[in-house]
Amino acid sequence: MMLPDEQNTGREAEPVDSLPEDDGSYFPVPLATMQPETNAPVDLYVNMGPPMDYVLYKAAGTPLRDEMRERLLEHGVEILYLRGSDREIYYNYVEQHLRAILSDDMLPNHIAAELLYESSSRVMEEVFNNPRTSKNLQRANDVVQVTVTSLLRNPDSIWRMTEMAAQDAYTYSHCVQVGMFLVAASRNVLGITDPQMLTRVGLGGILHDIGKSMVRQDILNKPGKLTTTEFQEVKKHPDFGEHIVRQHGNLMPAVAHIVLHHHEHYDGTGYPEGLMGKELAEVVRLSTLVDVYNALTTDRPYADAKPPYAALRTMVEMDGHFDSQLLRSFIQFLGPNPMRRDMRARWHRARRERHIRKAG
Ligand SMILES: [Fe+2]
Ligand SMILES: [Fe+2]
Repeated sequence: MMLPDEQNTGREAEPVDSLPEDDGSYFPVPLATMQPETNAPVDLYVNMGPPMDYVLYKAAGTPLRDEMRERLLEHGVEILYLRGSDREIYYNYVEQHLRAILSDDMLPNHIAAELLYESSSRVMEEVFNNPRTSKNLQRANDVVQVTVTSLLRNPDSIWRMTEMAAQDAYTYSHCVQVGMFLVAASRNVLGITDPQMLTRVGLGGILHDIGKSMVRQDILNKPGKLTTTEFQEVKKHPDFGEHIVRQHGNLMPAVAHIVLHHHEHYDGTGYPEGLMGKELAEVVRLSTLVDVYNALTTDRPYADAKPPYAALRTMVEMDGHFDSQLLRSFIQFLGPNPMRRDMRARWHRARRERHIRKAG
């Protein structure tokens, strides 16, 4: 196989700060996701364009070496292409090597954040489809562990992940978001830095709505207002969730507490037990904030997403639901981050695009 330089295409290096469009038959992946000392999980192609001329570079099963990456980099190739039908195999490979991939210096932080979000979403989709499989909960645990490591190393990546999921209305995406955000908020608002504790909290967050896997889909996706009976059904999800989590043992109480109590309110008006104030652990009180904030800022079947400032205003007005001191700290955590400065503009842009899509 000839490399781009051998053909001297004079082509410019592809920009690694963003991946090109996925054309369906082939999809782009960062070269950095192909780890040395492993075998190519699928056939790897390079684009000898312009604009598209995919040439097989390594066949599936070929050992990958550091020299291969160096050689490709020297030729300005930072993006490989895989056949669309190989997507599942690729993401399984990524999940298997996630820790190494995310700590690879070659991978830009925001692409690492996207990859982590994508991998977590895939794992959680399967957890929701088969919540009683221990292996799936172990996978959730592993992905949270990697998230914690990644967020401790690069705290700002949380903003990229938040942005990515704003238009994702699936229950499992919401869970991924809450899990990641809860890790970031626990570190910043509560000052928790112990990776083990952060993993427990993150696992509680990522599994908090797992009980919804036992609630009828048509109720969860209903666009209009729920009837009293339907709402009673939805309100069972914390109990269902706690049951699932406890059945799989080994999960620390912090996880089960978040799953069971994330709909409790500070003033005791929540469910299922009507606990109030300091009866709820600090991380549980924080989980209720993160859960509501994420729900309000995401498109749902029955309501459009609110921009962050409007979501926070709504939360401040939900007098008594939250620990007000914690809410203040949470707002501060969201406020001064430089990466959030243009979030409002981005939100409006995303909103416009959604309306255009809907109109089309
Ligand atoms: Fe919930
Ligand atoms: Fe939730």
